Formats: sequence, C-alpha cells, structure tokens
Amino acid sequence: MDKKATWDRFYTENSSSNFKNFEWFFGFDSVRDLIMPLLQPQTHNARPLHILDIGCGTSALGPSIYEHSPVAVTVTCADISPIAVRLMREHVGAKAIEPQHSLSTLAFLELDCRELFAHFGADRLDLIVDKGTTDALLRSRDGSGKASHVVRQCLKSLRSSGCLLQFSDEDPDARLLWLETEGREPGAMAADVAVLEVGKLRGVRYYCYQVTPHPIG
Ligand SMILES: C[S@@+](CC[C@H](N)C(=O)[O-])C[C@H]1O[C@@H](n2cnc3c(N)ncnc32)[C@H](O)[C@@H]1O
Repeated sequence: MDKKATWDRFYTENSSSNFKNFEWFFGFDSVRDLIMPLLQPQTHNARPLHILDIGCGTSALGPSIYEHSPVAVTVTCADISPIAVRLMREHVGAKAIEPQHSLSTLAFLELDCRELFAHFGADRLDLIVDKGTTDALLRSRDGSGKASHVVRQCLKSLRSSGCLLQFSDEDPDARLLWLETEGREPGAMAADVAVLEVGKLRGVRYYCYQVTPHPIG
C-alpha cells in the first residue's frame, strides 16, 4: 500500500467525468471539531499557519480546512500519486472555493512524504494531518521502518508550537506505544502523544493520535 503505481491505479479507476472526493475512513465533518480549535491566530506575527495534508489522495480534508478556517492558512495537500494531485487541481480549479480568510491559499503537490523534510525544512509547519497514510505505510513491506521515518520527518519539520494529527483505525494499545517510541528517538525532537476517539463508523472505532513536539532538554 505504499506503491505509487497502486495508488495511481486506484485513483484512475475511481475517476470519472463526475469528480467525487474519495474519503478514507470519513470526511472533514467527522474531524472538524478536532482540527479547527488548533488553528489559532499567531499573536507575535501575522503569517498564515502552514498546514500539510500528507497522502491527501482526493480527500476534501485539506480544501475544507482552507475553506472554513477563520485564520489565514497556507494549506498544502501532498500525495505520491500524480493522478490524485492532478484530479484535485482540476476539481478545485473548477469549483473555485472561497476561503473565509482572504490571505488563505491552497496548493497540491506531488511528493513522497518520506522526502518531507528535504522539501519543507526544519521548523516550517504548524499542523500536519494524516488520514490513513501512515496506516497505508504500516501495512506495506518494512512498513514500520517507513512509517517511523515519516513520523521523524514530520517532527523535524513541525514548529515547536505545531502538531501532527494521525487519523487511524489502529487500536491505541499498538499505536500509542509505537508513537511514544518514535517521540523518544535519540537526537530527534521529543514528543508528547495523546489519543482521542473520533467515533464508531460502520462498526469500526476510529482514533485521532495527536503528536506534539517539544525541544529536548
Ligand atoms: C489510505 S489513502 C488516504 C487518502 C486520503 N488521506 C483520504 O483520507 O482519503 C493513503 C494515501 O497515501 C498516499 N501515499 C502512499 N504512500 C505515500 C508516500 N510515500 N508519500 C505520499 N503519499 C503517499 C496514497 O497515494 C494515498 O492517497
């Protein structure tokens, strides 16, 4: 589930002349109350908050944050699949979403999230959202190694005031332990991990794992 070709095929098969966002697990409305309170205006400067959706696919999550945020946001939706990125660019271009804040921007980017740090650099992002992407990596060959690499890249690119939200169906017994271990990696930024239940949908429980970096020492 980490292969670009697999996802290109998936999005090609799901695309038709009538574009419809494909949502893994659930859509923006299920998590809006977890995301929106994190979008607080910066007191010391007026820069927009930089939000990254890793493995955005054709989800409406990033565009909905852009549309509904009362605070200025720079939303980047990134995916390894150029098909998903093209579909989203075309869809958003045709729909012309009006953001609540006039300085908000929305962009789509073809990016392997394992290269996230090389692309964004250190201390650049205020919020990273991940709906199902770490789950997809974990379910691939050497998945734990790949997913660990991505979490570490996220922690390095997040500002100290920022956080990473992972939406997943993985049980807290497994995910919390794994994230706490990643957050204690020597030489990396330390992190606190919390879990909230998103809800039960079609008999499956979904969770929001919140990873908040804090400087070592
Ligand atoms: C389970 S889907 C979730 C899609 C979307 N977040 C949603 O909620 O519908 C996983 C997504 O991760 C993307 N993906 C897989 N490996 C990736 C990687 N290394 N870098 C960036 N995106 C990746 C896939 O193309 C796919 O769109």
